[in-house]
Amino acid sequence: MKARVYLTRHLPGEAQSRLKARVQLTVWPAATPPPREELVRGLAGAEGLLCLLTDTVDEALLDACPSVRVVSVCAAGYNNVDVAAATRHGVLVTHTPGVLTETTADLAFGLILAAARRLVEADRFTRSGKWEAWDPGLLLGHDVHGSCLGLIGLGRIGRAVARRARGFSMELLYHGPRRHPEAEEELGVCYVSLPELLVRSDFVSLHAPLTAATRGMIGRAELGLMRPTAFLINTSRGELVDEQALYEALAEGRIAGAGLDVYAREPVDPGHPLLTLANVVALPHIGSATLATRARMAELAVDNLLEALEGRRPPHPVNPEVLTPGG
Ligand code: DGY
Repeated sequence: MKARVYLTRHLPGEAQSRLKARVQLTVWPAATPPPREELVRGLAGAEGLLCLLTDTVDEALLDACPSVRVVSVCAAGYNNVDVAAATRHGVLVTHTPGVLTETTADLAFGLILAAARRLVEADRFTRSGKWEAWDPGLLLGHDVHGSCLGLIGLGRIGRAVARRARGFSMELLYHGPRRHPEAEEELGVCYVSLPELLVRSDFVSLHAPLTAATRGMIGRAELGLMRPTAFLINTSRGELVDEQALYEALAEGRIAGAGLDVYAREPVDPGHPLLTLANVVALPHIGSATLATRARMAELAVDNLLEALEGRRPPHPVNPEVLTPGG
């Protein structure tokens, strides 16, 4: 008897066909997340859920769907899932770290370059018909090479950004919940307190997961420590930043600019104040969005789900204690 699985969006690549061959699969057909009632209906009798970061898996959903044993999130970040509630329900949660590291680091570095060198503004200007002559004062930006990069979080993606920054001869600072002596040695990154990082960096790039400890970690006080010539780059989660405080700092010229791929609420409202500012480069959460990486994420999410449903340890469990009850 094949296990029943609910998939909340069509997956790129071949992964979905592989899943379909092994389970009894129901797929939500739309390009937006299934409403809660639909999710509950689709999960009736299902043992597995393969979902995206846009699908909230909380205690109420787990209560309503007691047959679910495995929740496979097709993302590295799994803040959409109440992991403590899942553990209480004996539900295994898995995610897809590692396969998107380099792709997301590419985008973070792209945002550094785009924000500092005003690439999006310059593109709009070129198309506007306003370009009259080469001008020594036209669209002047900030140098990236030789500047100071402050990484908040030195996990896989933070390290991959550090490797790119070395090629730009950047000074590298980092802050996080613990020191990483091996990375300090390998990458030449220097551990500093958060205030020191904010004061010294020309670019502050966020690479921390969203947790109770990191939510709102960049607020008015933190932005107030940054240089008027500095940029904030966020490819992690929007809720790390107080967006109103960021808007005010940018609008009042207290920091130079921002490169954002993520927002507190997604999709971000097109009327959001941050989107009215020329010194903001705003992307629609595309950090991992390449053909190859999205296919790899889907493969890994399917591997996690199938391994767990078939009683084996999946490659990336979030709450492995569920696999060994009692410890
Ligand atoms: C993740 O995986 O957490 C990203 O935000 C989407 O790729």
